[in-house]
Amino acid sequence: MQLQKGLSLATSVALALGPVPTFASTASPNCTLSVVNNEYTHLLPLPFEGNLTRDFLDGTALENETVATALVNAQKSAFISYHDEFTRLIGSAKLDFIVADAPFPNGEAGIWVPDLHQVWFVTTLYGGPTKLYILFLENSTVIEPQLMATAGYGTHIPLANPAGGYYFNGTVYLALVGTDQEPASLVAVNPRSYVVRPVVNSYFGLELPPVDDVVVTYTNTSRGIEKHLYFSTLDLSAFGLTVGRPAAVLPNAFWMFTPETGALQPVIPRADILTPNGVAVDKDFRHLYVTDTSATASVGGGAMWNVTGSPAIYRYDLSPMDGLVSNKVLFGMTREGVSDGIKVDDKGRVWTAEYEGIVVRNSVGKVIGLFNKEVILGTQTPVAEMANFALAGDSLVLLALDKIVTIKLAEMVVSPDRFTVGWNR
Ligand SMILES: *[C@@H]1O[C@H](CO)[C@@H](O)[C@H](O)[C@H]1NC(C)=O
Ligand SMILES: *[C@@H]1O[C@H](CO)[C@@H](O)[C@H](O)[C@H]1NC(C)=O
Ligand SMILES: *[C@@H]1O[C@H](CO)[C@@H](O)[C@H](O)[C@H]1NC(C)=O
Ligand SMILES: *[C@@H]1O[C@H](CO)[C@@H](O)[C@H](O)[C@H]1NC(C)=O
Ligand SMILES: *[C@@H]1O[C@H](CO)[C@@H](O)[C@H](O)[C@H]1NC(C)=O
Ligand SMILES: *[C@@H]1O[C@H](CO)[C@@H](O)[C@H](O)[C@H]1NC(C)=O
Ligand SMILES: *[C@@H]1O[C@H](CO)[C@@H](O)[C@H](O)[C@H]1NC(C)=O
Repeated sequence: MQLQKGLSLATSVALALGPVPTFASTASPNCTLSVVNNEYTHLLPLPFEGNLTRDFLDGTALENETVATALVNAQKSAFISYHDEFTRLIGSAKLDFIVADAPFPNGEAGIWVPDLHQVWFVTTLYGGPTKLYILFLENSTVIEPQLMATAGYGTHIPLANPAGGYYFNGTVYLALVGTDQEPASLVAVNPRSYVVRPVVNSYFGLELPPVDDVVVTYTNTSRGIEKHLYFSTLDLSAFGLTVGRPAAVLPNAFWMFTPETGALQPVIPRADILTPNGVAVDKDFRHLYVTDTSATASVGGGAMWNVTGSPAIYRYDLSPMDGLVSNKVLFGMTREGVSDGIKVDDKGRVWTAEYEGIVVRNSVGKVIGLFNKEVILGTQTPVAEMANFALAGDSLVLLALDKIVTIKLAEMVVSPDRFTVGWNR
């Protein structure tokens, strides 16, 4: 869920969409990698003055010319490396603008469906009711799928403001924020037939706050395979966003749903994560990663602010027995804005969409590099925000309003077998 600088999008979302004209570019002239001296990330010659609402590299004032020049020059690159691991990951990567000038403000979800070579994504709520699209990776074509509701539940098509989603074992799970017609819910879509099946829409008769993101794991129990759907719910009215429903009655929380047992249970309370947003899981289902989108710039940073949330990434342990969640660990703090979309790669690196671009942390939480939004998307006004992205095999797929950019990395970051039952567990 994009909860960022209030974008005012002049155009409303296009109602119908055939294949979007595609535009394959040659490499961008700024498609370079800059290696920044790691020391500058934590030790600068005095005096310096950084700015919470500006990028580190070109928003930090320094009297020392050598360091100032090094930082400002680095900001001209698409890829910024703070560590060898990131430099190796980039290799000779290039930016490929596979969709430019799309008639919709895309930016949410970023669901890789490996079996079908697709990335599913949705538009942002700031552009009006959100819509679901499918990108065919093989030919860079975008379609709007013709979904069909399962009879008997009252689920509406088009879907009630899809936000995040996840593909697992032949099914795409989507988090729906809700509309004036329909409460928030989780639904499952068959990516071949496009039939939509509702999964969760209430807790003992109470509406859930808007459902924003979802991830799926499974455990092999004595009773058989049990899937766990972890999802975030948050009251959007705190961000001035409404979808035509009354204010949430249940507190913000992360929930776990186990389809095989029918158990819907809260797993992370509001006191732990004030503003739940992105949710991700590592390859072996050992950890759950969640983002708190309590932005320092808007809710305050220091002790004088009565705010329990931080713009941060937290890691929890997942019990291999029952999928329950424990041991909150602070994994990273967002420097600018909030961490929104989040994905964990096969090496345990954590990728998040932040104001500066896509920030990559290694498996122990060190920031190793950045996909620099200012260079990749330019500095037009309004500034394009990247709220989410997909990791698809060896590619990063950036979802950035009217653009979709793919970047082929030097290694496979997410393998397809993560999304099936039965491999190596
Ligand atoms: C930080 O940057 C913003 C935007 O450029 C500016 O309005 C603000 O005055 C700056 N703050 C400081 C302390 O320099
Ligand atoms: C600038 O900073 C660098 C790195 O801290 C230091 O080596 C250098 O001596 C400084 N230059 C001046 C003129 O102080
Ligand atoms: C791209 O590179 C050119 C040439 O180095 C430079 O003039 C320009 O400012 C760069 N653009 C951005 C957005 O950094
Ligand atoms: C793109 O590929 C998909 C999947 O193979 C296919 O259904 C579609 O017709 C193709 N579109 C174009 C414009 O080639
Ligand atoms: C995974 O998909 C297979 C094939 O559709 C199905 O038979 C199986 O029940 C699914 N497993 C789970 C845990 O959903
Ligand atoms: C924090 O809470 C105290 C006590 O309720 C109140 O006086 C103060 O104004 C609050 N500060 C902010 C920044 O909201
Ligand atoms: C689940 O555990 C049983 C018993 O140990 C084993 O036979 C089976 O292969 C396991 N299934 C998966 C998908 O790991």
